[in-house]
Amino acid sequence: ERHLLGLQGMHPTRIEPFLDLAESYALLNRSRKTPRELLRGRTVINLFFEDSTRTRTSFEIAGKRLGADVVNMTVATSSVNKGETLLDTAATLNAMRTDLLVVRHAQSGAPALLARKVEAAVINAGDGTHEHPTQALLDALTIRRHYSSLTGLTVAICGDVANSRVARSNIHLLTAMGSRVRVVGPPTLVPGAIASLGVEIFHTMEEGLDGVDVVMMLRIQRERMTGGVVPSAREYFSFFGLDARRLSLARPGALVMHPGPMNRGVEIASGVADSDQSVIAEQVEMGVAVRMAVLDRLARGSATA
Ligand code: CP
Repeated sequence: ERHLLGLQGMHPTRIEPFLDLAESYALLNRSRKTPRELLRGRTVINLFFEDSTRTRTSFEIAGKRLGADVVNMTVATSSVNKGETLLDTAATLNAMRTDLLVVRHAQSGAPALLARKVEAAVINAGDGTHEHPTQALLDALTIRRHYSSLTGLTVAICGDVANSRVARSNIHLLTAMGSRVRVVGPPTLVPGAIASLGVEIFHTMEEGLDGVDVVMMLRIQRERMTGGVVPSAREYFSFFGLDARRLSLARPGALVMHPGPMNRGVEIASGVADSDQSVIAEQVEMGVAVRMAVLDRLARGSATA
């Protein structure tokens, strides 16, 4: 397989070397000694049909640090607005001899569809509610830097699990690596069927956070809520927001994570987001390292999924 479309079914023996490579890029980034020759002559196109700050920017930085030519295609000003289809857009980019196509799309499965149609290696940068594989890899790298191993850790993923591709990719990766995963949230945002992925379900923060090593918060994805009841910010925070009192139920020193963008005062209190236990900025830093590892592996034709 030449692409990175998701983490479901990926074996730990393929995940570990990947995290090792990303760790080596993290160290090179800190010493500003990145191998700018590695992807010289290769073209990376960022094709984002949904908004992004972290993922798109870090793929651009990652490509440039490895010497690639990186193009950010702005969908809002593209011929998509004139009715060009996703497949025709991809075929057009393919004809320009693109080597790596980084795709974010609101439809689950859109990157997989493109991967069957183009010669470029396709990287899923988030598709609907399906997967966000590079987010889970950067989360795993961040956790591993603090606990050295993912095996045996208990991780609570809290909030809008139903609409979260970040939650799904993290569940696939963490369970594969031997972590215990809890999902915590109201029944409307935590579907019972998610238990089939090997997670434990909790409907109160007090029970779900008890003794955990890592607390991973999720944003309420109002843009994906097409029907049903959408909780108010105040109501949601009072029941499911992470504040200092709730965090104190986790293991002392437990890591606080958030993939971003975060809504302060909705799913997380500002004081917690900015506390010593928060590794949110480190997640962003590891995002560049992980995406360098992804581009490196796929450009060499040894993809991971
Ligand atoms: N975590 C994440 O995917 O952030 P962006 O939407 O800003 O890329």
